[in-house]
Amino acid sequence: MSEIPNPIREPEVKYTQIFINNQWVNSVSGKTFPTTNSTNGKKICEVQEGDKADIDKAVEAAKKAFEFGSPWQKMDASKRSALLHKFADLIVRDRLYIASLETLDSGKAFRDSYVWDMATVATLFRHFAGWTDKIQGKTIPIDGTYFCYTRHEPVGVCGQIIPWNFPLLLFALKVAPALACGNTIVLKPAEQTPLTALYAAQLIKEAGFPPGVVNVVPGYGPTAGAAISEHPDINKISFTGSTEVGQTIMAAAAKSNLKRVTLELGGKSPLVVWKDANLDTVVEWAHQAIFFNCGQACAAGSRTYVHEDIYDEFVKKATARAKAKAFGDPFDTKSEYGPQVSQEQFDKVLELIESGKQEGANLECRGQSHGTEGYFIQPTVFSNVTEKMRIGREEIFGPVQSIIKFKDMEEIVTRANDTKYGLAAAIFTEDIDTALTFTSRVKAGRVWVNCYYKSSPAAPFGGFKMSGIGREFGEYNLQAYTEVKTVVMKTSEKL
Ligand code: NAI
Ligand code: MG
Repeated sequence: MSEIPNPIREPEVKYTQIFINNQWVNSVSGKTFPTTNSTNGKKICEVQEGDKADIDKAVEAAKKAFEFGSPWQKMDASKRSALLHKFADLIVRDRLYIASLETLDSGKAFRDSYVWDMATVATLFRHFAGWTDKIQGKTIPIDGTYFCYTRHEPVGVCGQIIPWNFPLLLFALKVAPALACGNTIVLKPAEQTPLTALYAAQLIKEAGFPPGVVNVVPGYGPTAGAAISEHPDINKISFTGSTEVGQTIMAAAAKSNLKRVTLELGGKSPLVVWKDANLDTVVEWAHQAIFFNCGQACAAGSRTYVHEDIYDEFVKKATARAKAKAFGDPFDTKSEYGPQVSQEQFDKVLELIESGKQEGANLECRGQSHGTEGYFIQPTVFSNVTEKMRIGREEIFGPVQSIIKFKDMEEIVTRANDTKYGLAAAIFTEDIDTALTFTSRVKAGRVWVNCYYKSSPAAPFGGFKMSGIGREFGEYNLQAYTEVKTVVMKTSEKL
């Protein structure tokens, strides 16, 4: 881990206001809200609290920036690309500061925010910078006296609502493709983690994006968030978060103006360990699949299915791995994870751990909170879990591994699919037939074979079933941020 520098333990918070039209303003109501430090529950600072009136102002700015003849609308696609690259350069320049700010505001391990989150932010912007001048329509052969072609136009004003588990990474995943396609944006960061999105807003300005192209309004979900999903002048909404809120947003989009909807929601993803898998390797993959980011990941491998022939041995090794886990102070570069993000999440995870004990799962490892302050939870392993138990069915979003026994393919396919979710899945096996059968029959938007979490800005990601609608990352993501216009033109009869 020598490439990880020492974090800035007390990064200065520079921006706490609302960002509209490339300017910092206070909330219309005058209200503020606190963002807290998850390691001790104490306030970091107050942030301006946006609500409907502020969203209205931001939408006006975004509409104006999108108008015909505006600097952004007239901008050459290659210039848009240069701005996206410039933003990535600024992220790289300020990487240590921003990664430190992310750790302060979210509690995520600094080594993750520095290595994983910040690197992904920069590569996402560079990936989409490469698309700006490649968003091309087609010419369609029709009746010879007519000329038919398509234009892939930006949708317009995009509302974007993001959660707290990868605050700046998800900012990038929303903002970069929307800008690559030429849209304008009103983004609301999660109330638990607004600080890095606000800092990034300043970098948007520094990079040279025209006023009104990106607007960032911190605030709460039922107020500022709802104002975005109900807004009649927002043309598209993109949301990452809980399935319940996703449903609310889709209903609001339908009722208001049928704004286009992309949803990336929860999961209860099956990770299947076949009897021929290399145990030592797979124990580590399965461990990382659930414990990465403290379990706070939509694609977490949260149902660990292990073949009965190797089940007992696997449980022993998985438990030993969890017991050896380094966790605690997120600024300590040795910590593999820090606290849960908030009191609410801390309570939710502990309550689910309790339910596992009550419903008869075997607690193999720990299963308690840790320390006297902050939202720390011990790495926890349950065996003998079934899908009837809440820990085998509900999204826990915490450092809790649930190990389940199975015996054959027919059974594992049925059980893996027996969930309302369909975000990710994985199988570990040396046998190509086993891998192919599982990958074709499992209902999930991302399936890994002999690996987990491997990703790329170019590889699409999104859910089947109640895990979401649409795909993010890569070329597929462009569809979410463009409208297809078909032009049919009568040509001269004389031709
Ligand atoms: P949430 O879905 O309530 O919050 C995510 C974002 O939606 C935040 O910006 C929030 O302000 C906003 N929001 C909340 N209510 C809204 C509304 N009525 N209209 C518009 N926007 C609204 O998620 P929460 O409460 O933070 O976490 C609850 C559970 O959701 C977690 O325990 C986890 O299971 C799941 N979750 C999944 C995520 C994912 O990556 N797919 C991320 C975060 C949470
Ligand atoms: Mg919520």
